[in-house]
Amino acid sequence: MKRNLLFLLGIVFLTQFSFSQKPRNHPLVAENGECLRCHGQTVYTAHSTDGRKQTKRPMSQACIIAIPGYQKAIHGSLKCIDCHAEGYKNTPHSPDLQFESVYTCTDCHEGTKKFKRFHLDSIVAGYDKSVHAKAMAKTFSCWKCHNPHTYVNAFSDQTDLKSAITVSNAACLDCHNNAVKYKLLTNKPADNLIKEHVWLKHPELHLKNIRCVDCHAKLASGTFTPHEILPAQDAIRKCTACHSQNSILANSLLKSDKKSDLLGFSNSKSLEYAFIMGANRNIWLNIISGSLFALLLVGLFIHLIFTLRYRKLHKNG
Ligand code: HEC
Ligand code: HEC
Ligand code: HEC
Ligand code: HEC
Ligand code: HEC
Ligand code: HEC
Ligand code: HEC
Repeated sequence: MKRNLLFLLGIVFLTQFSFSQKPRNHPLVAENGECLRCHGQTVYTAHSTDGRKQTKRPMSQACIIAIPGYQKAIHGSLKCIDCHAEGYKNTPHSPDLQFESVYTCTDCHEGTKKFKRFHLDSIVAGYDKSVHAKAMAKTFSCWKCHNPHTYVNAFSDQTDLKSAITVSNAACLDCHNNAVKYKLLTNKPADNLIKEHVWLKHPELHLKNIRCVDCHAKLASGTFTPHEILPAQDAIRKCTACHSQNSILANSLLKSDKKSDLLGFSNSKSLEYAFIMGANRNIWLNIISGSLFALLLVGLFIHLIFTLRYRKLHKNG
């Protein structure tokens, strides 16, 4: 009896509090097999033009597309040539293809209803004013942070705050911690990020537990990820910006936006996180205690039903 009740309560609890979504795992697109025969491998087989000789060659690191990563990615259901020129079907590829122009996000997503919740206009406006767009107008693009072959979304795809932060920061670290990618864009030496942030008392801890954009980008209403990356000297450095009652994080990272369903983390996780920072707001406490009260009512109701049934059974038998 008690077990049943606990079980039921458990189910109620789970449906109330977990918004877990299945990770994407697209089936392999058949047509991509031809490209992945070479690009899905560390070593590929090249043929002479008459087809009579063959030799094994290493695929350069940047051109390897890990197949599991592609299948999990948002764009993993697309054909390679949805984005790349048809000419790539010929190998070896023509050198001119290196100058192919690539689509931008808005080419495919502007004005679509499903995409409204992402507030693309505000994102594009922010990006256009960012240090990256200004310093590297010709070579930087949305794709530099949104890897075309592995991109997953931080907020609608991740089920907890920590992994959303990890996904979000990976977009920056994938380049700022990657000497080759960095060098493709600038002659400046790449900064050592830990060194640049030693003034933060625990740089590793902070870089792992806050989004880079929370300190480096201008807060934008509407989007969860502000896109206007400011010059470094304008970044947040005051401890109390976060470690206080009116923490800036309350308006960005910890903001709940159920309507657009972007943040679906369990409230308890966010509460725990906010508590560590000394930034907990009553709203979270209210939600938690409100929910507990609701659970209690549900529990009592179930208890009542079982008690009545038990009595009835007893009378009959
Ligand atoms: C026979 C092997 C082979 C096949 C099949 C193949 N590629 Fe390639 N591809 C290569 C090699 C080799 C490179 C050059 C890698 C390097 O730069 O070292 C390359 C480079 C590329 C590049 C980068 C060009 C650049 O330098 O910027 C793209 C994009 C590309 N391939 C797309 C495709 C697509 C799309 C397909 C399928 C339609 C495909 N490839 C099929 C071997 C292949
Ligand atoms: C959603 C669009 C999209 C899809 C789908 C896509 N790519 Fe790409 N790919 C791009 C873009 C954009 C770039 C250039 C990235 C950049 O400029 O940083 C790129 C770059 C590449 C490169 C060169 C790597 C480099 O660093 O320059 C290769 C190789 C490649 N793609 C192969 C493929 C293969 C093979 C597939 C299919 C399995 C595929 N792509 C599917 C958009 C796409
Ligand atoms: C060639 C067209 C094309 C381009 C370019 C493109 N996308 Fe997509 N995107 C798609 C398609 C098609 C889907 C739906 C995929 C599916 O449902 O399997 C999608 C899905 C998405 C989703 C998931 C939407 C949802 O409702 O969950 C996001 C987020 C997204 N794209 C972001 C981007 C971003 C950011 C860029 C630029 C860096 C971009 N896309 C560029 C075609 C494109
Ligand atoms: C300097 C890096 C960077 C650039 C450049 C960038 N983004 Fe983002 N973007 C991010 C990060 C980090 C996130 C959060 C993690 C995620 O969901 O990928 C994000 C999230 C998003 C989302 C999901 C909604 C949200 O608010 O979290 C969309 C849509 C998007 N970006 C579109 C774009 C478009 C369109 C461009 C180009 C105009 C662009 N991004 C350029 C870093 C960047
Ligand atoms: C707590 C706020 C905070 C966080 C979190 C943070 N930064 Fe910073 N960052 C700063 C400040 C402030 C500076 C300026 C330091 C200085 O000039 O002494 C800086 C400096 C930098 C610089 C050096 C720019 C230059 O002067 O050359 C880079 C690059 C950078 N940050 C990237 C990142 C990345 C990537 C992340 C996420 C992994 C991140 N930051 C997280 C506040 C932050
Ligand atoms: C593909 C590479 C790449 C990615 C991804 C990237 N950056 Fe950068 N970033 C650069 C380069 C290159 C510079 C130096 C630009 C210049 O001034 O020449 C730079 C400069 C900066 C600066 C310093 C501007 C200044 O004042 O000197 C900051 C801060 C910064 N990036 C933060 C970020 C954050 C935060 C993200 C993720 C949201 C990110 N970057 C993603 C390549 C990248
Ligand atoms: C952008 C927001 C932000 C800023 C600015 C910031 N912190 Fe933090 N701080 C956090 C977050 C988030 C955590 C970790 C929460 C967790 O562990 O999940 C944290 C953790 C800490 C911890 C460890 C607490 C513990 O219980 O482990 C200390 C100590 C700390 N910060 C001190 C500082 C100091 C000193 C400064 C100023 C130099 C500072 N922080 C600036 C957000 C911030």
